[in-house]
Amino acid sequence: VSRKPLIAGNWKMNLDHLQAVALVQKLHWALKDAKHESDTVEVAVFPPFTDLRTVQTLVDADKIPFALGAQDVSSHDSGAYTGEVSGAFLAKLDCEYVIIGHSERREYHNDNDEVVASKVQAALRHGVVPVICVGETAEDLEKFGASAVPVGQLQAALENVPAAADIVVAYEPVWAIGSGQAATPEQAQEVCATLRAVVADKLGTEAAERTRVLYGGSVKSNNIASFMREPDVDGALVGGASLVADEFAAIIRFQK
Ligand code: G3H
Repeated sequence: VSRKPLIAGNWKMNLDHLQAVALVQKLHWALKDAKHESDTVEVAVFPPFTDLRTVQTLVDADKIPFALGAQDVSSHDSGAYTGEVSGAFLAKLDCEYVIIGHSERREYHNDNDEVVASKVQAALRHGVVPVICVGETAEDLEKFGASAVPVGQLQAALENVPAAADIVVAYEPVWAIGSGQAATPEQAQEVCATLRAVVADKLGTEAAERTRVLYGGSVKSNNIASFMREPDVDGALVGGASLVADEFAAIIRFQK
């Protein structure tokens, strides 16, 4: 099975809607100059909620081949949940993806395994593909090794997910996020392969074969190729480097 690589840019809480326009346009030009084969790599950007409509308009108007994603979703569909954003609204804005369980949500907003699992269900109810983030802290790594915590997080997130569901898994060691200290390609491969085995165990081998498992944590243009050479790494979830047009364009154009 060949899985189409996915390069995902998580803007986190950066760029207001005017800055978003500037970045998308720069990115568009950076990719236009060179051969950007949208049939060989899929690109998705994850702006803040307030930018989604703006980015969607640009992408549609200029026929830019980027998929759109949100950074979070409510576990509820509608009603008295002040400040929350429904998966139904994301689907209406043509958001194909939504990041769920990012370590920053787990750390600062109490998105524990139970909350993550209910958000995964919410995304699936609305036909939005959950990008399920898992990863160990430096302390976890020391105590339990690299795989134990991400495996437990993924098992919990996949509870009651049907075998046919479209999901993406992102392995993001917390110690590698924003630190400039990426995992080695070998470390990423080992955990990504283990996470694929979890998908096989919970959803079956067909699902495991087609599900993309991304690596995230200090991915840059100078290390992306080394990750993409690994058989179980199907793309990257990029934070800081996705905010710089030339750098993100270079990541998108990675060469194996
Ligand atoms: O979602 C993205 C990750 O948290 C990685 O962030 O590329 O800035 O290390 P980073």
